[in-house]
Amino acid sequence: MPKLKEFCCTAWNWLDERLGIAPLVEHAKHKTVPQHKHSFWYYWGGLCLFFFIVQVLTGLMLMVYYRPGPDAYDSVRRITTEVQFGWLVRSMHSWSANLMVFAVMVHMFSVFFMKAYRRPREFGWWTGLGLLGAVMVFGFSGYLLPMDDLAFFATRVGLSVPEIMPGAKPIITAIARGGGDVGPNTVQRFFLLHVMLLPMIFSALLGIHLWLVQKHGNAVPQSEADKPEEARRSVPFFPNFMLRDVAVWLLMLNLLAMLAAFFPWKLGVPADPLAAAPAGIHPEWYFMSQFVVLKILGNWLPGVLGEYAGVGLFTAGMVLWGLIPLFDPETAGGKRGRQVTYFGLFVLVAQIVLTVLAYRLA
Ligand code: HEM
Repeated sequence: MPKLKEFCCTAWNWLDERLGIAPLVEHAKHKTVPQHKHSFWYYWGGLCLFFFIVQVLTGLMLMVYYRPGPDAYDSVRRITTEVQFGWLVRSMHSWSANLMVFAVMVHMFSVFFMKAYRRPREFGWWTGLGLLGAVMVFGFSGYLLPMDDLAFFATRVGLSVPEIMPGAKPIITAIARGGGDVGPNTVQRFFLLHVMLLPMIFSALLGIHLWLVQKHGNAVPQSEADKPEEARRSVPFFPNFMLRDVAVWLLMLNLLAMLAAFFPWKLGVPADPLAAAPAGIHPEWYFMSQFVVLKILGNWLPGVLGEYAGVGLFTAGMVLWGLIPLFDPETAGGKRGRQVTYFGLFVLVAQIVLTVLAYRLA
């Protein structure tokens, strides 16, 4: 045992001399995480990170066999039916993508209700919204890649929505779709977006986001902030909180493995642009609220007015959501704080109700 200890010390000194890692460990040892009745929500940012790591690892494995372009469908069929454990890796990638969107949403609403967007954490909120946007585009671009009938028709509908905006059609035709209809060119472009552009943008945003969390530490809800200093509790990040984080990650890995094994991700029939769209075509669950609003407004208003109103409504909503830190900037309670909480509750309930409604109408 003393020999092992001596070896570890020598190895540590060797690494520290070359990489200067001792200050990082010192920093981690001094970092603390507040403990209170809402501490459960602090695990969700780490969970988003966990699912992102799963996405990168399983995505790299899928890329070994996936072929963008005209062979896309055949390569996914091969991954699902011929490559050893290909079906499992593909299932894990798809389930983890959905769980990641869910975790990001829970994380966003929890930091919202804890008012963690307030001074000096505004950039944490804004980089977070950038990450949410990137996650949604990851989902949208990944959905097309297998090129089965569902993927094809959902993307066709998805791209037709922004196309109605003035001046957008030539840009979408030339850049996003690479032609008049969704086809192998679109798959090639979406693949580039999915495996190159988005990971670069996402990693840069994530780096800033995590650096800001290190810089400002975790925000505490107002009820905790009002307590006297000596009544507040916290635990060291390293090793206490980190070990709990790891325990939660392992639980999620189990859930993911069970979902992937018992509910393997399906592959539909190959896309046929000349066939009629299958009945009940709809996007992934996280686009369903937008989908149903467009559908309802489209039925109510004549011509493209419905689409204009829907796109306008969502753009205004997103801008308002992004500006929240400017409307409710202060740490003290008050009328504005309460108004913002009611607004957040309204957005959350509206999202849930619209999503349920969308599935009932689909
Ligand atoms: C994949 C996306 C994301 C990842 C990997 C991520 C990661 C993290 C992590 C690890 C933390 C620290 C632990 C915690 O407080 O939960 C954190 C904090 C934070 N995140 Fe995110 N996040 C993501 C998306 C978002 C989104 C969508 C928002 C909001 C729009 C957001 C806003 C914040 C804020 C304001 C904090 C500071 C919370 C505090 O001080 O307690 N994040 N994030």
